[in-house]
Amino acid sequence: MSAYDVVIIGGGPGGYNAAIRAGQLGLKVACVEGRETLGGTCLNVGCMPSKALLHASELYEAAAGKEFANLGIEVKPLLNLSQMMKQKAESVDALTKGIEFLFRKNKVDWIKGWGRIDGVGRVMVTAADGSQLELSAKDIIIATGSEPTPLPGVTIDNQRILDSTGALSLPEVPKHLVVIGAGVIGLELGSVWRRLGSEVTVVEYLDRICPGLDLETGKTLQRSLSKQGMAFKLGSKVTSAVVDGKSVSLTLEPAAGGAAESLQADYVLVAIGRRPYIEGLGLESVGLAPNQRGIVENEHLKTSVGGVWVIGDVTSGLMLAHKAEEEAIACIERIAGHAAEVNYEVIPSVIYTKPEVASAGKTEEQLRAEGRAYKVGKFPFTANSRAKINHETEGFAKVLADERTDEILGVHLIGPSVSEMIGEYCVAMEFAASSADIALICHPHPTRSEALRQAAMAVEGWTMQA
Ligand code: FAD
Ligand code: NAI
Repeated sequence: MSAYDVVIIGGGPGGYNAAIRAGQLGLKVACVEGRETLGGTCLNVGCMPSKALLHASELYEAAAGKEFANLGIEVKPLLNLSQMMKQKAESVDALTKGIEFLFRKNKVDWIKGWGRIDGVGRVMVTAADGSQLELSAKDIIIATGSEPTPLPGVTIDNQRILDSTGALSLPEVPKHLVVIGAGVIGLELGSVWRRLGSEVTVVEYLDRICPGLDLETGKTLQRSLSKQGMAFKLGSKVTSAVVDGKSVSLTLEPAAGGAAESLQADYVLVAIGRRPYIEGLGLESVGLAPNQRGIVENEHLKTSVGGVWVIGDVTSGLMLAHKAEEEAIACIERIAGHAAEVNYEVIPSVIYTKPEVASAGKTEEQLRAEGRAYKVGKFPFTANSRAKINHETEGFAKVLADERTDEILGVHLIGPSVSEMIGEYCVAMEFAASSADIALICHPHPTRSEALRQAAMAVEGWTMQA
């Protein structure tokens, strides 16, 4: 039996960051991963391959549509889908190898195989060839991530009816892609295929897209995606999808009840959320009973069993790579006996569509529900000189600040490159800054970031450039 201070089950952003930090702090650490490569969902079939296709398809559309021509660049692009997929795979491969390098650098043992908790302080690993290895650990961290939520009546075969993994590797551009679920995956991957030439219809159960998003921001995003040609069927549910050769027949019903209608597609993407992955994990061997939202933890990421910790998608909270990373650091620091906190109030969320959406903190709807008095400052990108010069004027920056103290409570950005700019507000919110703090900070000109300052000025009613 190999003995460790910490054994981490899962090598995604939760697991690999925990392993690296443990190595840095001098703990003897092993990371068990069942996949052939490290990096988890994020690097292999999530964040990274989706961003590779979003980047490539955005450039393709800019060249194929009017955007390049309007800039005076006349080109006639030819789509080479297999090259697009190849460059995506090469980037993913380089990134997963990067984690292998970081493991070697920080003396992390990568144990290849599926881990099962086998009583307190023990993990049994079964390798692909069936061989088994038992590990002992003072502390075990569960970081097994999540998997797509299935939809009754719609069987994913990853040929015609796809989950996100299937939709990241299609061999051809669909003629008509039906996306079930107007959440982050549906809108990002729907955008990829629409840009490459698909007709895309998004079917959403609720009467709005992206339920967690600030309502005004969500409506602006929907308007923009509709203008680009994405069709939305809100307040609808898919009750069945039947594959016949190269086509899929879907049956839809209004969510509130009513007459059914049918829809034909050649591909369907099911993206109605993800659920914690705990298959074969042996939780019963230590008496852990998960609930619907995964393995229950306390505010210190401890489960109810001593020496068993849980981080990332497999437990409650946002299913985001950087949230898993924050928990990984805090968990290892605590195991090492240090103080550590995760500030769940300031975890940014980004949707990598065009325009991008980036938000942190509370939405207007949440503040109203809490009965909290707040002020709003808003600035449109139409009035931002850099956005104007680049012909990227869709969207706005919106800042929500406490009515009395002016503390920034939430920020909602929709527009060009906002994913890269939200960090400014995260820093500000971590330091409990007021909107006036941002309004009085010099921002470089001409940049889109000036819109963030102007929005902060708008909170006190002294926007200067709109
Ligand atoms: P995971 O990354 O799921 O890793 C868990 C790992 O554990 C997996 O590799 C799995 O094989 C392994 N495992 C499970 N059980 C066992 C076991 N018993 N033994 C051994 N190994 C095991 N988030 C963002 O922040 N930004 C994005 O842009 C973004 N884009 C996404 C796009 C898509 C299409 C998808 C699907 C997700 C995206 N996400 C994004 C979400 C992000 O991928 C997850 O939040 C993140 O990967 C969670 O990290 P994790 O370590 O908790 O779990
Ligand atoms: P999601 O939770 O973002 O959206 C799911 C959508 O499906 C919701 O709008 C929901 O109302 C709808 N829905 C649920 N049941 C339905 C049904 N039966 N019929 C029609 N619609 C239904 O989930 P999604 O898009 O699958 O993504 C999963 C998670 O992956 C995200 O929540 C996010 O945490 C992560 N992710 C993050 C990304 C990013 O940070 N840019 C990108 C992609 C995924």
